Amino acid sequence: MRGLFITFEGPDASGKTTQIDILKKRLENSGMDPLVTREPGGTFVGEKIREILLDKNNAGITPVAEMLLYAASRAQHVSEVIKPALESGRTVISDRFYDSSEAYQGYGRGLGKMVWRVNEPAVDGIWPDLTIMLMADPDDVKGRRADSEKDRMDSESLAFQQRVKKGFEAVAERDSDRILRIDAGKSIEEIADEIAAAVERLAGRKI
Ligand code: TMP
Repeated sequence: MRGLFITFEGPDASGKTTQIDILKKRLENSGMDPLVTREPGGTFVGEKIREILLDKNNAGITPVAEMLLYAASRAQHVSEVIKPALESGRTVISDRFYDSSEAYQGYGRGLGKMVWRVNEPAVDGIWPDLTIMLMADPDDVKGRRADSEKDRMDSESLAFQQRVKKGFEAVAERDSDRILRIDAGKSIEEIADEIAAAVERLAGRKI
């Protein structure tokens, strides 16, 4: 049986990493062997593309070049990691997937529907069974990282981050069957429990 594909999405600094760690441990404690991966990245080539995308020295990357690089990383990731793992029955948890391209490149950069046209061959028919969208307000989290720690993407203006957030909101509303939208302002435990309940419903078993 095909494994479950769970993705985590949301604006920068919304607490995804903490929640992915908690879910991974819960699944492991219940006897599962989840594969945790991320985008951009998740493969040798993808991690190299990630370096290019997040390097602050690459301020000159055009919006279209950026969109293509995220899609290239995704194509490699789906083909080399996600598809084979799902086919072998493993649960895959990805820190970001296509929804991020829609929010950041589609809404943030204003590239709109072009983003899907480019990504359709990259996702190659693979689609999440469940997406956890942790929604933080860019205004509330902007001080969380020092400027020196910020990468090319999270150094973007507050106006850009607000467009990205709007993009995530629109995607969550449109795909409400797949996407569980959670307010990132709740406590870590409360969020973890909501996520576990959603995964239990999907998996049809306790975790
Ligand atoms: P991370 O900081 O969550 O690891 O993600 C790296 C950055 O890349 C983050 O600012 C979101 C951005 N991103 C896009 O702009 N488009 C995409 O398709 C993906 C996967 C990430």
